[in-house]
Amino acid sequence: MSLAYEWTDYYDIISTGLEHDVEFYTELALEVKGPVVDLACGTGRISIPMALKDVEVVGIDACERMLEKARAKAKMARVSDKIKFVHSDMRTFELGRTFSLIMIPYRSFLHLLSIKDQMAALRQVRKHLVEGGILALNVFVPQIKHLYEEDEKSSTRGIYSIPGSEDRLVVWDYTRYDHFQQIAEVIRQYERTDRNGIVVQRVVTPFHIRYIFPAELHHLLRLAGFSVIGRYGNFYKEPFESKSTELILVAKKI
Ligand SMILES: C[S@@+](CC[C@H](N)C(=O)[O-])C[C@H]1O[C@@H](n2cnc3c(N)ncnc32)[C@H](O)[C@@H]1O
Repeated sequence: MSLAYEWTDYYDIISTGLEHDVEFYTELALEVKGPVVDLACGTGRISIPMALKDVEVVGIDACERMLEKARAKAKMARVSDKIKFVHSDMRTFELGRTFSLIMIPYRSFLHLLSIKDQMAALRQVRKHLVEGGILALNVFVPQIKHLYEEDEKSSTRGIYSIPGSEDRLVVWDYTRYDHFQQIAEVIRQYERTDRNGIVVQRVVTPFHIRYIFPAELHHLLRLAGFSVIGRYGNFYKEPFESKSTELILVAKKI
């Protein structure tokens, strides 16, 4: 498991989601009216607001540190009775029951680095869905131009305030691509600076993702026993089109 998610406080500062994604997934959960699995749930960014709307959620993540934080946040929000956080892997989880909706938000599916791993996760998802149950996920759309321009380059991801402190967090990403395997290796560096701009902490956290092209994801879902019933370019359900930077898919178990 990559160390990228061990720094949960820094993760929460920089990973605030995509516009309207919490609302999109929560609406879907309310529509299907059933218990939901939030796969690769992280620190509960989506599970917790969902539980606040009275949805029963099981959050699964492979990083225990993320889950510890998720449990603490759920307790603070007083929804611990609505959410169960389980330490497991997308490829192998076994919950012994079925669900109406399984979601994989915030591009987490891209952490599966081979077709074998992607298929293993989809097999587990299908097995845990009721007949006609729904899988919803989103991934970014790879831009050919960026794949070449960003290769072997460092860029600032952003400069963030640290709540409860005068310190700042400067985040750098160095990206290296293997276009044959469709894998990006990202070396993320968190640089914490004090109010005088002096670096007081530096943390380096590498991680990998496998980028996926839109048609590829369609074929993969079909192969795994799903039929795509919704395809959007943003979380306001606008159509997916040539300029879309995000691909949001809703698929039904067939
Ligand atoms: C980008 S974060 C998304 C977290 C959360 N869904 C959100 O929207 O904020 C990706 C998450 O995937 C988890 N993850 C990566 N590989 C995994 C795997 N094979 N099985 C389960 N979780 C995994 C990481 O631990 C991390 O919490």
